[in-house]
Amino acid sequence: MASEALSNGQGRTGLISTRYIMAMLGSIGLAIIYGFKVNVSIAIISMVNHTALNNGSSNSSVGLEDGPFVWDNKMRGLIHSMYFTGYLISMIPSGIVAEKISAKWVMNIAVLLNAVASICSPVAAHISPAAFAAMRLIQGLGGGASFPAMHVMIAKWAPPKERNVIGSIIYAGTALGTVISILLTGLIAADMGWEAVFYIEGGLCFIWFTVWWIAIADSPADQRRFISAQERSYILSSLGNSESRHEKETSRIPLRQIFSSMPFIAILVAHFCSNCGWYMLLTQLPTYMNEVLHFDLKTNAGLSSLPFFCMWLFTLILSYVLTKLQGAGVITLTFSRKIGTLFASVVPMICLVIVSYVGNALGAVALMTIGVTCIGGMYCGFLANHIDIAPNFAGTLVAITNAVATIPGIVMPNVVGYLTSSKDPDEKLFAWKMIFFATAVFYVIEIIVYWIFGTAKEQPWNKTDSSHPQAVPLGRNDD
Ligand SMILES: *[C@@H]1O[C@H](CO)[C@@H](O)[C@H](O)[C@H]1NC(C)=O
Repeated sequence: MASEALSNGQGRTGLISTRYIMAMLGSIGLAIIYGFKVNVSIAIISMVNHTALNNGSSNSSVGLEDGPFVWDNKMRGLIHSMYFTGYLISMIPSGIVAEKISAKWVMNIAVLLNAVASICSPVAAHISPAAFAAMRLIQGLGGGASFPAMHVMIAKWAPPKERNVIGSIIYAGTALGTVISILLTGLIAADMGWEAVFYIEGGLCFIWFTVWWIAIADSPADQRRFISAQERSYILSSLGNSESRHEKETSRIPLRQIFSSMPFIAILVAHFCSNCGWYMLLTQLPTYMNEVLHFDLKTNAGLSSLPFFCMWLFTLILSYVLTKLQGAGVITLTFSRKIGTLFASVVPMICLVIVSYVGNALGAVALMTIGVTCIGGMYCGFLANHIDIAPNFAGTLVAITNAVATIPGIVMPNVVGYLTSSKDPDEKLFAWKMIFFATAVFYVIEIIVYWIFGTAKEQPWNKTDSSHPQAVPLGRNDD
């Protein structure tokens, strides 16, 4: 069925069906948000005065051009942590607003906040580091809102059998945005200066903002333009009663049932453990390469964007293959969620274990690339799984697991920094090995828990208002 829908375009108007236009625009939207997530860490290299920070000694050996700001490591760490702070603050409220009011607008505002804060960043930087950090906070607020909003969009727009492909197109945008941002930011900063980075990247967003605003509605039921009647009824009927009722006010969030649901706990554990590995590969492995292997990945834009490019490709290919297999009746949806999760956990786990035995930088880069590539499996694994078990609460569920999964991103750099602070190279190497092995243990937990408890079946608490009429909150319209 799904393969038919893909190949002969069931419910298609014109060249391409509206749900795939939504998916591509959503993908670009997430690419923008993730682009802003990484661009400051690159732009800041040309913003600070390295000479002043090195107490006046020349930095010609490092080969870095000086910028106007004397911001030391601590200050830069603070600026980076402001993004995470905003990210955590907005996540759960925006998930609820996306479900109850409008996911389309949550996404639009998320991108708008990022664009406006970007354009204001150069001025803010000249005012004070605190003002610049405030811009990062605002961008983080938008970043935190983007995942829950897009989860709700997928729940409303994707027929269950196409959820893998549509979800993967959208989430692969995070990888693509990271690649483009690393390359573009480096280029703009080198050719036109760091201020242009913020103006150009911010300005480009307004194109997306306008198109998304005009072309896309919250759900196929609300979409009045650019959609055929066949496609609308195809999507709505494939989603069954729970979606086609077109009600914006879902019932009260059944928190007790959510937290006692093993399929949800399995996703929560998988998301948390997976992020431990993700931050390890992404932020700590480059530190290891730098400190132990004496190789600076950050200065090489091509090499540092390569893993994300491979991840983008892998995400799309894997989701396509799994959808085909599912369509042919070879595997179930639950099984394809487990396969995706397995790729995203087993392969990076092996890479982390091997990397502690590889003494050269190129080997480490290769292992990092393979690991990050396969982490792309999570998009058709446990991440899309939130929507399967409870499409009515997709935004809230992903907000909860993502909030918990942000903890390793905050804790890990500090723990690793503390453990590897030894001056003795042998002790340092030993500490790094222990850290890599500890991360592998998190992956083992993920694999076991998700394999046993993960499921793609819709859970009974997804439809609380029909089963518990007394739990209906005030203000529900009685249709
Ligand atoms: C960087 O700092 C050094 C030493 O404090 C100073 O001489 C130089 O002019 C500064 N460069 C810029 C671009 O501000």
